[in-house]
Amino acid sequence: MSKVPPKQEGDPNTTGHSWDGIEEFDNPMPRWWLWTFYATIVWGVLYTIAYPAWPLVSSATSGLLGYSTRGEVAVEIAAVEEANAAINMRLAEAELTEISADAELNSYAVSSGAAVFRTWCAQCHGSGAAGFVGYPNLLDDDWLWGGDIEAIHATIAHGIRNEDDPDARYSEMPAFGEILEPEEIASVVNYVMDLSGGTPTDASLVPAGAEVFADNCSSCHGENGLGDRELGAPNLADAIWLYGGDEEALTETVTYSRYGVMPPWTQRLTEAQIRAVALYVHQLGGGE
Ligand code: HEC
Ligand code: HEC
Repeated sequence: MSKVPPKQEGDPNTTGHSWDGIEEFDNPMPRWWLWTFYATIVWGVLYTIAYPAWPLVSSATSGLLGYSTRGEVAVEIAAVEEANAAINMRLAEAELTEISADAELNSYAVSSGAAVFRTWCAQCHGSGAAGFVGYPNLLDDDWLWGGDIEAIHATIAHGIRNEDDPDARYSEMPAFGEILEPEEIASVVNYVMDLSGGTPTDASLVPAGAEVFADNCSSCHGENGLGDRELGAPNLADAIWLYGGDEEALTETVTYSRYGVMPPWTQRLTEAQIRAVALYVHQLGGGE
């Protein structure tokens, strides 16, 4: 510490602290700053009285104004619903097959259906509806259960193989591991690879596989493997796979079967929402 120079007349007050000859002045805060500071304290106290603020054991003080973000959203949603009530009613009551001919109703349905899809369907079918293994692509014209608007509507309303809806679409491919010998499974797998235009790993098994297929598979997948929409049995000749078309995936499908489940939506969505999302899916590209 160096020496503090002697204090001159007119020098500001100092705190008495000095570092290497640099002294700390003892100037008061500017008035405007101080008042702003007090004002923020007052504001803070009033705010915690007026709005939800202090955490309690299981909730928080609710504030004199009774404001909640949840309540605000509820009011906004109610306003939108009220504004759309008339068109939703029209959508729910129109003849299903005639909606697409009504330009106004159709464009409302498709855009609100897209929002329903993003909220409720994208987890399984993908945000672009291209699907994943086990979850069908809804963009193509390969339909398990039918691609006209009525079939799509029924699939969405009641779901597939679920226990929550007695009207759900239902079928069950047996697990052939319990029915066929491993060699029979290997040959029918090779037959299916050949059928779909792929390259069988062992072409010599194909003729025997054709016999196994005729005896065990054609009742659901059709004589030529083209599938059956009544049963949700996929077309096996088109190289579009729900679960995979290589030897490993096919062996797994045939041995254990798959049992894909889709939930029903009648309990969660309104009829207008179900119709909207059905129309949205229908216009994605594969609608019939
Ligand atoms: C929990 C996952 C899941 C959710 C959520 C889901 N799906 Fe599905 N969906 C499936 C599965 C699995 C299948 C195929 C079932 C099968 O193998 O037949 C399917 C099949 C479909 C089909 C039939 C496709 C065809 O080829 O016939 C349509 C249409 C469909 N879903 C639309 C929707 C819509 C619209 C929603 C949202 C409202 C939705 N799905 C939500 C799992 C889901
Ligand atoms: C009782 C009807 C039924 C019989 C019999 C049946 N299947 Fe299936 N098969 C289905 C259904 C339904 C599905 C769709 C399963 C799902 O999504 O859960 C399916 C799915 C498949 C798939 C998956 C297709 C894909 O896109 O991934 C293959 C492969 C297949 N079956 C092959 C066979 C073979 C081979 C046999 C005979 C050994 C056979 N199935 C017998 C009903 C049947």
